[in-house]
Parts: sequence; structure tokens; C-alpha cells
Amino acid sequence: MTESTWPQDRRVTVRDLQAATDRGERWAMLTSYDALTAGIFERAGVRALLVGDTAAQMVYGHDTTLPVTMDQLVPLVQAVVRGTRTALIVADLPLGAYQASPQRAFDNAVRHLKEGGAQAVKLEGGQAVLPAVRMLVQAGIPVMGHLGLTPQSVHVLGGTGRVQGRGSAGERLLEDALALEEAGAFALVLEAIPAELGNRVSAALRSPTVGIGAGSSCDAQIMVWQDLAGLTTGHVPRFVKRYAELDDVLTRAVADYVNEVAEGTYPAPEHCYA
Ligand code: KIV
Repeated sequence: MTESTWPQDRRVTVRDLQAATDRGERWAMLTSYDALTAGIFERAGVRALLVGDTAAQMVYGHDTTLPVTMDQLVPLVQAVVRGTRTALIVADLPLGAYQASPQRAFDNAVRHLKEGGAQAVKLEGGQAVLPAVRMLVQAGIPVMGHLGLTPQSVHVLGGTGRVQGRGSAGERLLEDALALEEAGAFALVLEAIPAELGNRVSAALRSPTVGIGAGSSCDAQIMVWQDLAGLTTGHVPRFVKRYAELDDVLTRAVADYVNEVAEGTYPAPEHCYA
């Protein structure tokens, strides 16, 4: 699918993503949490946006993804849907929204589609979530899997700074990946795993792999947009590439505004009504 063959007058579907992958085309995803920036990302060529549970940190100021709830995510999904026309919108199921039972997963996925307007949902985990994946797919809800570093399990993993899937854990991850595909997942996020394992999983699956710290063999890549844009401060993972330094740009812009207000040079005559 070339630039012009991506749909211009309807949303990208999971079939479009599979077709691009089958043709060997790489495509980009980003996280998204509001209407204005979602529209910018879509115009820049991002084909699928994830309203991630990283909203816990990026929107609500928490340290981990754990506290965010369905009630907090659904309005963000609505905003991202309103701000876009062609991007596929994937909504994350947060901790507690799917682990207890397939029925719970179904109820919350339906909220993301009915109330939020999303076209797909994402959940974390391998064997344990297969019954939920099967139920959602049978109900016609596209599901994206997520293996490797699964931030909802931060307290079991002992932090979010560790690379996953080294040694024999890599074999288990590959088995989980195949099982998720077999259960009907349309794509799989691979987070913070060795590039060699990302390559093996991508070669083994027909469905697209979406890497975030999983090397260059994945069919697609995803990043948290504030990481890409240089808005997050402090330590960032190795896989983050800063494509801009918006923190500096915004700080300078706001400091100029504050100074001009203090000096009385803003508002100038051209900003005033006659
Ligand atoms: O919630 C999220 O933003 C994610 C991505 C980092 C893949 O799961």
C-alpha cells in the first residue's frame, strides 16, 4: 500500500494493516490522548493511534499505568476519535478491566467501541488472556496483544526498566505470540525485548508485530508521543528517539509570554479591540 492507497475517505481497518504488512510495508503507530494532537499525528501519516493506559502517566500524572480506569480512558478515546477521520483507533483495556474473566473483558471492550468509538482494543499478557481474546474476536471486536514488558505487571516484573524475554523466557514469549495469533489477535505489541527475539517473533507470525524496544524487524513501531516529542523529562528508555524538544520550545514560549505580560508589552495594539 503506497501513500496514496491508504484510505483517504474512511478509517484504516485491521485488514488494511495486514495488507500493508503482507506487502512488506512498515507503518507507524503512536499513542494519543486528545483530539488536537491526534489530528496532527493522522495528518503526518500515522495509520493507527493507541489510546494507551500510559494516559495514567502522560495525562493524569501517575508514576505507573496501574491507577487509570475505564471511566478515565473512555473520554480520551472519544476525544481521539473526534479528532481523526482516517486513523484506526485502538483503546487500551487498563488493569482490572479484563483479567478477572472473559465476560469482564467483553463488557469493557464493548464500552470502548460503543461509548468511545474505538475500532479495536489492546490487552496485555499471554496464555492467561487467551479465553478473553477468543471471546472478543468471536464477538467481532479486533484485539491487539501485548507481550514482553507488560507495564500492568510492574510489581511482578520488579520494575519497568528490565528487558524481557532473554534466555528461555524468549521461547515462552514466542509460544505466547503464536497462541495469541491463533486466538485471533490482529496484531501484537512487543515491548523491551532483544532485537533478535523481535526478529524471530516477527518471522513466525503472519499478523503484524508492533515494536517498542523490540528491534528493527517488527512490521510496525509504536512510541509514546510525548517521548518522541521531547516532552517527558528524566530517564527515558533506550528505544526512545527524540524527534523534537518540545519541552524547551514550550518553556521558552511561556517564559516569553510571562515576561511580556510583566513588562506590559503584551497585549500590543494589534491584539486589542477598537
Ligand atoms: O499504553 C501504552 O501506551 C502502551 C504502549 C507503550 C505500547 O501500551
